[in-house]
Amino acid sequence: MSHDVSAVFRPGLLAGQVALITGGGTGIGFGIAELFAELGAHVVLASRKPEHLESAVTALTARGFAASSVPVDVRDPERVQAMVAEVDARHGRLDILVNNAAGNFYAPSESLSPNAWRSVVEIDLFGTFHCSQAALPVMKRGGGGRIISISMTLHYRAWPLMAHAVSAKSGIDALTRTLAVEWAPYGVRVNAIAPGPIPTEGVRKAFTPPASSGVPDVFAAAEQRMAAYAQQAIPLKRWGTPRDIANAAAFLASPAGDWVTGAIFVVDGGEWLAPRPMAGM
Ligand code: HXC
Repeated sequence: MSHDVSAVFRPGLLAGQVALITGGGTGIGFGIAELFAELGAHVVLASRKPEHLESAVTALTARGFAASSVPVDVRDPERVQAMVAEVDARHGRLDILVNNAAGNFYAPSESLSPNAWRSVVEIDLFGTFHCSQAALPVMKRGGGGRIISISMTLHYRAWPLMAHAVSAKSGIDALTRTLAVEWAPYGVRVNAIAPGPIPTEGVRKAFTPPASSGVPDVFAAAEQRMAAYAQQAIPLKRWGTPRDIANAAAFLASPAGDWVTGAIFVVDGGEWLAPRPMAGM
């Protein structure tokens, strides 16, 4: 597959723009950061984990791209405010916010501790709200902006063992639609992308139940038969990549998306619509 972005997106499409990407050091977040940087944006990667930020920024700047980092825990509104203030102080603008930071793990609802529930809902849903609200004044001052939140498709049906994550991501969809309408008068477009199965390290971790839970390791099992899984469970017959999600994000961030707000853009090879594979497949 071609990785020549100029084949699809005009070089310099995002030149002069500042994009803040939470969870931007790894996985889908890094994929989005990489494409936005290739298109000329200055990307600011935010994460709780300095080790993720350092290696990601080095990888981008080594290729001549404009990238920097800022620490944050998106659960903490004060630290989120400080993150946006730091970006504003450095650049005097914020054009694009990608709410990508997420926490997740496989666990039976009946034994989920209050703190386990809170951790995931706070990272995914509260974090998306805190970051969007903090970014708004800077975007308003600049005459507009674009907010892109990463949702999922698992909450379109039941997804046992992920009650915390599906609840949080449902909330992100509702929040996206409402903020889109509230903030349209400011020229701020608010959209979400719902990725299908993309085997990043984060997803591997989230899908690997602790041995003590007695829950079968469905992700590892599926991974062993990845080709077969893609053939049978994904209509477009391949697993997704961070670049697939980045391409959708670049569209939403670009002027081509100027009349798109409040959309939940499913990018999943048709996976959620397809009949479920038979057990044991
Ligand atoms: C049950 C668990 C658990 C598990 C943690 N907890 N892991 N409970 N099963 N596997 C509980 C802990 O016991 C604790 O509750 C509470 O959750 C908080 O855990 P901490 O480790 O103290 O929290 P913290 O360090 O803040 O970590 C947050 C986290 C962690 C969400 C728990 O997994 C994390 O940082 N994840 C970030 C990376 C990540 O998950 N990425 C996945 C993104 S992929 P108690 O009661 O003991 O205090 C994604 C898409 C997935 O989102 C869907 C794919 C289709």
